Amino acid sequence: MEKTSKIYIAGHTGMVGSAIFRKLNLEGYSNLILRTSKELDLINQQSVIDFFEEEKPEYVFLAAAKVGGIEANNTYRAQFLYENMMIQNNVIHQSYVHGVKKLLFLASSCIYPKLAPQPIKEAYLLTGELEFTNEPYSIAKIAGVKMCENYNRQYACDFISVMPTNLYGPNDNYDFETAHVLPALLRKFHEAKVEEANTVEARSEPVELWGTGTPMREFLHVDDLASACFHLMQTYHGNTSLNIGTGKDISIKELAELIKELVGYNGEIVWNKDKSDGTPRKLLDVSLIHGLGWKHRIELEDGIREVYKNKFINQYA
Ligand SMILES: NC(=O)c1ccc[n+]([C@@H]2O[C@H](COP(=O)([O-])OP(=O)(O)OC[C@H]3O[C@@H](n4cnc5c(N)ncnc54)[C@H](OP(=O)(O)O)[C@@H]3O)[C@@H](O)[C@H]2O)c1
Repeated sequence: MEKTSKIYIAGHTGMVGSAIFRKLNLEGYSNLILRTSKELDLINQQSVIDFFEEEKPEYVFLAAAKVGGIEANNTYRAQFLYENMMIQNNVIHQSYVHGVKKLLFLASSCIYPKLAPQPIKEAYLLTGELEFTNEPYSIAKIAGVKMCENYNRQYACDFISVMPTNLYGPNDNYDFETAHVLPALLRKFHEAKVEEANTVEARSEPVELWGTGTPMREFLHVDDLASACFHLMQTYHGNTSLNIGTGKDISIKELAELIKELVGYNGEIVWNKDKSDGTPRKLLDVSLIHGLGWKHRIELEDGIREVYKNKFINQYA
């Protein structure tokens, strides 16, 4: 990628796309093509064809997708399958048709089998049953990974895909209906703290959290992901979809305690065990990407502190 290359970031308004945008800007890339979903609906095949014909991007970061937490994935099952398949089919195929030099597709660690051995190696893809709640999303993402692999095989493209672990950072989604666990916890504890401060006796209602708190999860700051994507776009040409994570995990209970402390909420936590936990553990084996010269830099506690400060404290300061 040259500094003057024409680069399309699909999904630049989202958490991942905006982090890639910040990273490219920081590195001096300014010939960036950006479209919101209102300006270009990637589900619409003809609009995507017209866009590629007109703009002819040389490089593509495909970070546009329908994304959500357990509840959204389970409720909007048909939409998660249809919209993600359409977006990636259109963008990957038109990238091939219009001779894009390199494309990076954002898959996800959800695509691994529910009971995959831990830590999860790239080779465990398609070796077992998927978690039911996000099966439609995972099936779509697996199809995207396989599209990249097979367009490389049949058409000699240079399309790579990455499987990031759970992400957090600027531009995250804080809507309780669709949010992932970390931003949902930040908002819950923040609101509970504000309520606590507003009661006469500064006494608080308990915060109710879903599940048992025992599942283990890994979290990566989205700026670290953007630096990994940038690094791979510059240096990696293989046909293996690569894990991107920290290689360290934490239980949801420990995460809740950490956020509770960082936010400064003094009340109790109650676990609603009627709600589903999802996959028991999901830790990525990151030895391949470490071997390619990339490692995360932002530790979880520092990252959450920064996000909390920027999202909830500074805006009221
Ligand atoms: N968030 C995570 O924890 C995580 C973890 C692993 C992998 N990933 C992957 O990273 C990618 C981006 O995730 P994210 O968290 O950044 O999602 P996000 O914040 O929800 O952003 C989604 C982006 O996709 C765009 N988009 C959605 N539907 C579209 C359509 N029909 N046409 C055009 N654009 C459309 C949105 O554009 P508008 O805003 O203009 O509508 C937005 O820019 C996804 O592929 C996801 O699977 C995310």
